[in-house]
Amino acid sequence: MNTILNKLNWRYATKKFDSSKQVSKADLDTLLEGAKLTASSYGLQPYEIYVIKNDNIRQELRKASYNQPQITDSSYLFVLANKPNFDEALIDDYIDNIVSTRGVTKEDLEGYSQSMKSALLDLPNDDKNKWSSNQAYIVLGNLMTLAAEMEIDTCPMEGFNKEQYNKILGLTKKGLNAAVVLAVGYRSTEDDTQHYPKVRYSQEQIITHI
Ligand SMILES: Cc1cc2nc3c(=O)[nH]c(=O)nc-3n(C[C@H](O)[C@H](O)[C@H](O)COP(=O)(O)O)c2cc1C
Repeated sequence: MNTILNKLNWRYATKKFDSSKQVSKADLDTLLEGAKLTASSYGLQPYEIYVIKNDNIRQELRKASYNQPQITDSSYLFVLANKPNFDEALIDDYIDNIVSTRGVTKEDLEGYSQSMKSALLDLPNDDKNKWSSNQAYIVLGNLMTLAAEMEIDTCPMEGFNKEQYNKILGLTKKGLNAAVVLAVGYRSTEDDTQHYPKVRYSQEQIITHI
């Protein structure tokens, strides 16, 4: 079988991590670089990633996550935080980044800037939150696939209280919101879930070729 498909079959949402095994700093950096390289709508990257190692904070977060053990027993906890009520600064910062990265002028990008502003800035707050959160989920998918390729285990998690996370991590005052969480580490040999067959619809059920 194709190697990447082997890796995607190898991965599973890890329920029990082996807390004695640590993801190396070099592998952590590779994962974070992969997160950085993720594509986003217009390229706006309306999110930040919190990498949490601190045990006390993770104990608090576990309480806000239905006591799920992955929160404390993984090597790292990534909290992917979207920008739920972004304003024109999101677009202006991005334009500045293109100018310095690609050596073009702001004037060259005026049309692009205006089209992003008119598409995004008048959205109702709920839609801004949804759109920016969607972008954070693309990071989540990339991280899971990259980790699998590196034979690092992960558990994507929505089972947590966002308000409590925002409070514990001080996200709201930074204009951020906890969108989704990824526990990263190495599976315990005692995690029976790793042996369960994957439950998926067949290609015929979910794919339409036209
Ligand atoms: C966005 C998202 C949120 C999830 N939240 C949780 C969670 O809070 N706790 C958990 O143990 N698993 C969680 N899962 C894992 C799913 O249940 C799991 O990915 C799915 O059943 C498919 O199984 P597999 O990933 O092992 O192949 C989540 C998965 C995704 C993609």
